[in-house]
Amino acid sequence: MSVLNGKKILLGISGGIAAYKTASLVRLFIKAGAHVQVIMTPASKDFVTPLTLSTLSKNPVFSSFYNQDEENEKWNNHVDLALWADLMVIAPATANTLSKMANGTCDNLLLAVYLSAKCPVYFAPAMDLDMYKHPSSLASFNSLQQYGNIIIPAESGELASGLSGEGRMAEPENIVAFLEADLESKLPLKGKKILITAGPTYEAIDPVRFIGNHSSGKMGFDIALSAANLGASVILVSGPTNCKANNSLVQVISVVSAQEMYDVCHQYYAGVDVAIAAAAVADYKPKIVSAQKIKKAADEFTIELEKTKDILASLGANKKNQFLIGFALETENEIENAKIKIQKKNLDLIVLNSLQDEGAGFGIDTNKVTFIDKEFHVEEMELKSKKAVADDILNKVITHFYE
Ligand code: CTP
Repeated sequence: MSVLNGKKILLGISGGIAAYKTASLVRLFIKAGAHVQVIMTPASKDFVTPLTLSTLSKNPVFSSFYNQDEENEKWNNHVDLALWADLMVIAPATANTLSKMANGTCDNLLLAVYLSAKCPVYFAPAMDLDMYKHPSSLASFNSLQQYGNIIIPAESGELASGLSGEGRMAEPENIVAFLEADLESKLPLKGKKILITAGPTYEAIDPVRFIGNHSSGKMGFDIALSAANLGASVILVSGPTNCKANNSLVQVISVVSAQEMYDVCHQYYAGVDVAIAAAAVADYKPKIVSAQKIKKAADEFTIELEKTKDILASLGANKKNQFLIGFALETENEIENAKIKIQKKNLDLIVLNSLQDEGAGFGIDTNKVTFIDKEFHVEEMELKSKKAVADDILNKVITHFYE
């Protein structure tokens, strides 16, 4: 999945021949899953029509401070547009527009939005080779980079003037690749490895029967996807589940029993930065697993059980630098029991689920949790989707690395 998926992109188009390529650029943004709004300088409308871009972006296109349609006269709020965006891309960026951006000139909507933007701003220069090398153009590039804006360098090739050289706007595919690479390199968990357990475990009674539980695995899978979206590489050790993780950064290792989950976790634990135990591991397993299917005979039947290994506690006991997060499901003395678990299992953070809360628990899409850290700070959260709870958990991980 592209890092642009779900991102709100404001595309600013200024008046150069390369503006005709922005139709492809908008299409590529939409294909990557981004939301796009387009702002055009008046001059750019000579090269590509607003109708083309509004059709492709599925949004109205803005080019003046107010809507000139008399029946529907309305001020186009440049501040709202700027604050809406996760990133702004100015392509093509002509020498004229770049010079105005560098000097704070504000004589069209695109420039007003640029000056109001708080998000990262990228600009893709497009001009003839001598203009591209002119000291005043270089001065504009420099000033803009000093303001924190990011240049998408022009490419070499045939130019509209008939000359050949450096100055062509980067091809739309290359603009998208540039943005993806830049955004990925800045993801807060880039380079971090996270081990996550998910789902139930099944403990065999005989070849056809097992002891299991109703865990769907959803919470663990949501945590894995949130972590991957923040740039982490994830090893997701999951018991039997229907959940899927379609993300190249998530490696799913399927296991069945608690012992298998334990073995896989310990195989990877030494090499990870974070471990999150979201699995509902069976606490007990049959002492003897029958090699054959057990036939029904007596009226009563007893299975002797023994404890499974506590995976999370064993990770806590072997902890070096890993940030270790566990879950707790409690029905009474919740906070006190959770605090005891933090100490017993040597955790950095526990995510407490209370079955007393409506909307929390197995098989549903929402969860209500309380975070308790190893200093026993308690933070009670609202009822949220499991996806939002996953994001909150990953925010705790980010805080751990950056504060
Ligand atoms: N856990 C584990 N291995 C086990 C049992 C639990 O890794 N054999 C992990 C779970 O993934 C969860 C945490 O331990 O992160 C808490 O599990 P929970 O069932 O709430 O607590 P227990 O330690 O099993 O204690 P109790 O059932 O007595 O509350």
